[in-house]
Amino acid sequence: MKKQLLFPEYPHILHGGDYNPDQWLDTPSIIDDDFRFMDLAHCGVFSVGIFSWTQLEPEEGKFTFEWLDDILDRCAKAGKKVFLATPTGARPPWMAKKYPECRRVNIDGKRDEYQMRHNLCFSSELVRQKTGIIDAKLAERYGKHPAVLGWHISNELSGECYCPLCLARFYQFLEKKYHTVDELNRRIWSGFWSHRYTSFDEINPRDPAMEAIRVDWKRFNAEQMRDYLAFEKSVIRRYSDRPVTTNMMGLHKEIDYYRLAPECDFIADDCYPMWYLGEEKNVGARFSMLHDLHYSMQRKPFVMMESAPGVPNFRPYAHLRRPGELQREMLLAVGHGADGTMYFQWRKSRGGFEKFHGAVVGHDNSAENLTFKQVADYGSHLKNIDCVAGAPRKIDVALVWDWDNSWALDLGDFTHNFKEVHTVFPRHYKALWESNFSLGVIESTGDFSPYRVLVAPMLFMLKKGVREKLEAFVRNGGTLIVSHMFGYVNEDSLCYRPADLTALTGVEVEDYDCMEPGRTQSALYRGKSTPVLEAGELLRNQSAEVLATYEKDFYAGSPAITRNAIGQGSVYYLAANFSDEFLKEFYFGALTQAGVQPQLHNLPDYVKCSIREDETGKYIFLYNFGENTETFPTPQGAYDLWNDCALSATLTLAPRGSTVLVVK
Ligand code: GLA
Ligand code: ZN
Repeated sequence: MKKQLLFPEYPHILHGGDYNPDQWLDTPSIIDDDFRFMDLAHCGVFSVGIFSWTQLEPEEGKFTFEWLDDILDRCAKAGKKVFLATPTGARPPWMAKKYPECRRVNIDGKRDEYQMRHNLCFSSELVRQKTGIIDAKLAERYGKHPAVLGWHISNELSGECYCPLCLARFYQFLEKKYHTVDELNRRIWSGFWSHRYTSFDEINPRDPAMEAIRVDWKRFNAEQMRDYLAFEKSVIRRYSDRPVTTNMMGLHKEIDYYRLAPECDFIADDCYPMWYLGEEKNVGARFSMLHDLHYSMQRKPFVMMESAPGVPNFRPYAHLRRPGELQREMLLAVGHGADGTMYFQWRKSRGGFEKFHGAVVGHDNSAENLTFKQVADYGSHLKNIDCVAGAPRKIDVALVWDWDNSWALDLGDFTHNFKEVHTVFPRHYKALWESNFSLGVIESTGDFSPYRVLVAPMLFMLKKGVREKLEAFVRNGGTLIVSHMFGYVNEDSLCYRPADLTALTGVEVEDYDCMEPGRTQSALYRGKSTPVLEAGELLRNQSAEVLATYEKDFYAGSPAITRNAIGQGSVYYLAANFSDEFLKEFYFGALTQAGVQPQLHNLPDYVKCSIREDETGKYIFLYNFGENTETFPTPQGAYDLWNDCALSATLTLAPRGSTVLVVK
């Protein structure tokens, strides 16, 4: 497979982090120390200027770039690279005071006071004007600077604003989508509770009665962020052609990142796992899933833009990193397709909200503390895996995740057991991950053609054209596995008739049954009884093969799992919420039957792998998520790339151990 280098002029795995020298301008010796420590920590790439608006424009129209000239020149001289940020993640107090319209209006209709960050109104022309000025000045001055590798637009775009300007744009958004208010009334079923509107501006986006409108409001907010991101990018593009990105936040419940991805030249993400809550395996699976999402968005490497070198200040437990944990976390990202692992933050600030957030350099300003040493140790190995940069992944199996699907489930008023896609989806992912399949995460309107198997847990909302696309995928030989709550509503949250999906699934959902405390249900699959967790659907079989049946209650003997053969492929229907163990076994069987194999066989249960592959080699990443040292046979022909040495016949991974091998 061909390499896809994100930065051909810098063909390394990026290592560095958010760097705020602007907070230390009155202590130049600290900045000298920074440059000394950067080499000791083997850090070469920094996100600079993320929250620097007041340092760049201390008063309206008065600009001070000298400090940034100096930092970027020093970086260039020292061979360091920079993601230069636009400073719009936090606006200056002078702006908030002089121009109240830049402050958001909250859900109760009250305009926010000046406080915190990530809170500009995306509709305000004034905000665009001020953003346009500062961004243009930055891009003009530094757009071709030798240290600038790319652009970091704003920071963690997020939130919503109910100001009159935003509401007006929301009504335009609805008008563009539905054309007429009559069409909107028809499509969203507004006759319910007498909600028929006579004009768009009668619509209240907070109104829970109209779930379709609530979903549209969230879609609108994604469009607001996309539009603002595109605006900042267009200003940069006037002066600079270097790649542009913005940092995402995984499966953030409110933000449809698929809408932002096309504006990014590469995907960047912020990752903060809590290894100490529950089994480490669960955390490993969850973050593998997020990395797979970010890799799949553009089917190319991405950058983990933020992670914690030490302990984040905001966690419920200030759990110190355990030996090996940092390296394993970073290599988990790289193995799943990250071409960079970066930290928030390079140096701890002395004051302000995050002064106790872990950093590579602490308040002790030394290279001697535990965090620094772990970072430096990880960094010192990275040159050994330079060859991994740009290597793609071979992925046959994709899980289908849609944000508007999760909103439709979440906002609908029905039994909670049937809504929890944020819990169920990761459990299905983990069941596949347990067996070391190489996985992707894609949206239902995306391209299915690279995959052989699609897994759609709780895909409640089937948007226009998706059923037809799924059917074509299966007819052409694909395997589709869906779970309970499949295809209940269309993109406007209007229910389908159950029979509408029969041609695909071979079954019709008659009803569903939720277990109140004290009542249990189970299903019989291949002669073995398996528990049903809380909820299951009653199926009317039309043309499918029945693979499992319910065991209890009046509907005992009716289908709980089916398979429908259509064309060259098949559709599995899992009508109930099944246990993790069962899902693992079930998926292993269904995938191997579809001709898909795990990336490696016979690893110990607590050891997981991920593989990247290019013209020169197959890079095998191994991780121990258990509490014991694990010893197992070395994959055939493998060389220890991480430590640059030959291997014996067996490999040993300590608890939290991780490594990278290559097979040429
Ligand atoms: C986010 C932000 C950073 C910082 C970190 C703290 O990811 O982007 O500015 O606040 O969280 O973990
Ligand atoms: Zn607004």
